[in-house]
Amino acid sequence: MNRFEGKVALVTGAAAGIGRATAQRIASEGGSVFLVDVARDGLEETAKLITEAGGNAAFATCDVSDEGEVHATVQACVAEFGRLDVLCNIAGILLLEHFEKIPVEKFRRVLEVNLVGTFMLCQAALPHLLETGGNIVNTSSTSALAGMPYGAAYGTSKGGVSALTRTLAVEFGKRGVRCNAVNPGSIKTAMGSGGNLPDDADMQLVMRAMPIDKARGPEVIAAVVAMLASEDGAHINGEEIRVDGGTLS
Ligand SMILES: NC(=O)c1ccc[n+]([C@@H]2O[C@H](COP(=O)([O-])OP(=O)(O)OC[C@H]3O[C@@H](n4cnc5c(N)ncnc54)[C@H](O)[C@@H]3O)[C@@H](O)[C@H]2O)c1
Repeated sequence: MNRFEGKVALVTGAAAGIGRATAQRIASEGGSVFLVDVARDGLEETAKLITEAGGNAAFATCDVSDEGEVHATVQACVAEFGRLDVLCNIAGILLLEHFEKIPVEKFRRVLEVNLVGTFMLCQAALPHLLETGGNIVNTSSTSALAGMPYGAAYGTSKGGVSALTRTLAVEFGKRGVRCNAVNPGSIKTAMGSGGNLPDDADMQLVMRAMPIDKARGPEVIAAVVAMLASEDGAHINGEEIRVDGGTLS
């Protein structure tokens, strides 16, 4: 499949996990990918993996919660590749803590990265996406659809991402730009390992989030993001697709 031939995708969170897998998938289908993350080493590794496989990649470090850096990064992508067709907002952070113990500054930080970062990337990219008739794929979570124990900050941020996705879909659909989201659940990445649970977590509650059969890697999300971002998703707008091994079925 060469669904992204001649297209340019900006992928945040591209230094690891789902962002890396998505960048690799889009590049493997002919797209040029602009890799964005705070982690320079991981970006270099992703770029190396893509170019060694015959793909086309460039990268920039950027904290998605910093408005100046976000706008400079989108400009750098367009300067590098001449256009922007797809924005994949995948960067994110997880905070697991008992609700009573979440310091307000940590709650705010999760919203700043996961929600405000997604908002700013969308705002900076939209003029370019309007030019190319491009589209956006955001990363929500099963925590936006069902209660996630110890995830008050995270789930709140992802609920916002889902609402933002639907809003952009209706506001920009008529102007030729689609906006969709994926809701991953229990994906085997650094974040998905669940290693940051509070010590005295109620494991019965936590186990509610396990997939029906087995955990899978970030490539299962990348496949769905690529479908949504390609012409195969042409009639899908304002949708979020749950990819969680059946957890919330
Ligand atoms: N793994 C899962 O089970 C799961 C489930 C639901 C949703 N998600 C979502 O999928 C996305 C990717 O998660 P993952 O599992 O690949 O996690 P990950 O921790 O492997 O990757 C997240 C990436 O985001 C980057 N990042 C963090 N803060 C950033 C910032 N301020 N600016 C730029 N980059 C930043 C990190 O450096 C990292 O490379 C996240 O939005 C996450 O919330 C993951």
